[in-house]
Amino acid sequence: MLQGKHIILGITGSIAAYKAAMLCRLLVREGAEVRVIMTPLAKQFITPLTMATLSKHPILVEFFNPENGEWNSHVSLGEWADLMLIAPATANTLAKMVTGIADNLLLTTYLSARSKVAVAPAMDLDMYAHVTTQQNIATLAERGVAIIEPEAGELASGLIGKGRMAEPEEIVEQIKKIFAAERKASLAGKRYIVTAGATIEPIDPVRYITNHSTGKMGYAIAEELAMRGADVVLISGRTALPTPKGVQRVDVTTAEDMYRATVAEWQQADGAVMCAAVADYTPKCVADKKLKKSDDDMCIELVRTKDIAHQLGATKGKRILVGFALETDNEESNAEGKLQRKNLDFVVLNSLRDAGAGFGGDTNKVTLIDSNGRKEHPLMSKREVAALIVDKIEQQKR
Ligand code: C5P
Repeated sequence: MLQGKHIILGITGSIAAYKAAMLCRLLVREGAEVRVIMTPLAKQFITPLTMATLSKHPILVEFFNPENGEWNSHVSLGEWADLMLIAPATANTLAKMVTGIADNLLLTTYLSARSKVAVAPAMDLDMYAHVTTQQNIATLAERGVAIIEPEAGELASGLIGKGRMAEPEEIVEQIKKIFAAERKASLAGKRYIVTAGATIEPIDPVRYITNHSTGKMGYAIAEELAMRGADVVLISGRTALPTPKGVQRVDVTTAEDMYRATVAEWQQADGAVMCAAVADYTPKCVADKKLKKSDDDMCIELVRTKDIAHQLGATKGKRILVGFALETDNEESNAEGKLQRKNLDFVVLNSLRDAGAGFGGDTNKVTLIDSNGRKEHPLMSKREVAALIVDKIEQQKR
């Protein structure tokens, strides 16, 4: 899959730079042509000689070769590349990428690159968790940079947490996916709705009813559909996530808002994935002033909301409709009930009983259930689950 691909491998000054040697080797073994650019500090972590030997090309560090004055043109490097991969990417380099600081050859090449760019962050857990780094990563992702997430584990500092660069094999897998996605616009011309996140049902101007959904699963599905060329309308309840690249996002608050927005989009859609955690009940009356406490207990009368998936199922025709089921008990029979009742093509079941599944995390463990039966899958990243769901949509595409 990487045969003949031109890859710039950018290495920055992180202890994880030693893994860049193996990474380079794997890329070359897959048939890629690799040119390595190192930041000056990176040379202290891994020698240019190692990287030059493995990549079979001289290493580029300076803007020009001090021996003969020849320029290392960042513009032609940027044009040459089919992909620019920065691994490891330090917090410092990520921040400079966001702001456009161009004080080394790697950064000037980044600014000139016309290709897709991927980064594999590596740093200590506190630096990674810092709001600045997180915002920088989110900004880069919004601008289309592929983020190859670090893993949790033991760090060079001896601390344990998230920040360790992904293993070279994993990075190569993600790079292959990037090329695969660029190649196959298998869903071009199709339009899908994805609902995601939590709805918010106000009680008064201060309080509300909501749930723990973060929207991660739905956002990953929207991103995967868009990567395969589909037009995607993401109807989103509350979430802190950035809009995936190429996705049209409509923000809503209540279940009623989400119902209206989704039904309005449904006419033009070829299918929908109902991933949102929609409130089943909403306060009958919303107080226009803050409710005052008294010594008595209080009762809030709740009324049923409309079931969006059910409404779409009733007017589905030959289109595709996918639902989610998050269960705590009788998982499979509950999910099968939803399949029938809501006229879904398949249900993605996740149980809160499974470790690593459900709200907030980056992983999920799902069972896909359709009228032919069920298939249980192992624990995977939400991105992998999204690919699995979209593969199944493609199989059923009409
Ligand atoms: O019936 P239950 O809420 O468990 O069904 C979950 C599925 O139905 C999810 O796909 C969810 O997004 C969808 N749903 C909906 N509208 C509602 C409630 C659930 O679309 N009001």
